[in-house]
Amino acid sequence: MLGGTHHERNDSLERAVALLRAGDVVAFPTETVYGLGADAENEAAVARIFELKGRPSSHPLIVHIAAISELPRWAGAIDDRALRLAEACWPGPLTLIVARGPRISHAVTGGLDTVGLRVPAHPLALELLRAFGGGIAAPSANRFGHVSPTTAEHVRAEFTDRLPWVLDGGPCQVGVESTIVDVSGGATAILRPGGVPRERIAEVLGFEVPVLSESTVRVPGQLASHYAPRAEVVLVPFAELGARVAELRERGLCVGALVPSDGSGAGAHHELALGREEELARGLYAALRELDGRGCEVIVTSEPEARGLGLAVQDRLQRAAGPRG
Ligand code: TXA
Ligand code: MG
Repeated sequence: MLGGTHHERNDSLERAVALLRAGDVVAFPTETVYGLGADAENEAAVARIFELKGRPSSHPLIVHIAAISELPRWAGAIDDRALRLAEACWPGPLTLIVARGPRISHAVTGGLDTVGLRVPAHPLALELLRAFGGGIAAPSANRFGHVSPTTAEHVRAEFTDRLPWVLDGGPCQVGVESTIVDVSGGATAILRPGGVPRERIAEVLGFEVPVLSESTVRVPGQLASHYAPRAEVVLVPFAELGARVAELRERGLCVGALVPSDGSGAGAHHELALGREEELARGLYAALRELDGRGCEVIVTSEPEARGLGLAVQDRLQRAAGPRG
């Protein structure tokens, strides 16, 4: 659902483009999560993103571009690995870390000489990029450390009236952020599992790519606590779900649970059922927000298998359950 008539859509696209040209920040949908976008070549606009998000300026932003043919315009050297992955996965939930081209400032990269580039697959994001004509630097449209937004309502809830414009493109179809693959140096590495499965990356490249759990680069998604709802998140083996819920209820807590849709319930006060892999990834963040909204103090769930999109879900759940700073 793209929201409104064709005419209304054009009006809001025009408005979004005008705001980007004026150096303002615009929230827009992508197939993964909503982004908080600004003109990638306008340092003041980029600074405004960090300010709104409450994100340290040393954490680099992804630059969204309209097409694979724009890669040379934004990247420095690109090799065969980058081209093969881009051709196979763009538009889509893949971010490539490559050498930074001269158009990209250190305001975007947090001082790094590499840049994250991606062509998103959402039709409205592509229309926006084409109409704007430049690159759009955008992190997920949530405050630093919070759960990423997968609907326009989530974005508005994060920033209340502080955002000039939210383009509404309906609920995001992938639901977890892009897979980040570093092809800037000799070794290839997955810095963040995401919407393109690890298996697909290996298939395209013809070799297995390691997933780095710790890295020297500044990837906020790699902080122990990230993607976190307000409620505490507790991960338990599937067989112990019911017992842990009962124990937490006995302590007087308001308990929420995320349970598989093909199993029985866990006996929590608030329970949401999610399917597997794609369906689980698509619904995960909205479910965490929903349980927060219902006043749950603790959310109990179990990790999916690390297959397909299950790896990204596992990663996000572990970080949501990580120690809070
Ligand atoms: O799906 C997505 O990737 C979404 C949508 C809006 O495109 N964006 C997103 O952005 O998740 P953000 O800023 O929330 O996460 C981007 C991650 C950060 O962890 C950042 O540190 C990492 O990408 N990153 C960006 N540039 C990098 C670079 N040059 N080297 C290493 N990591 C980088
Ligand atoms: Mg984020």
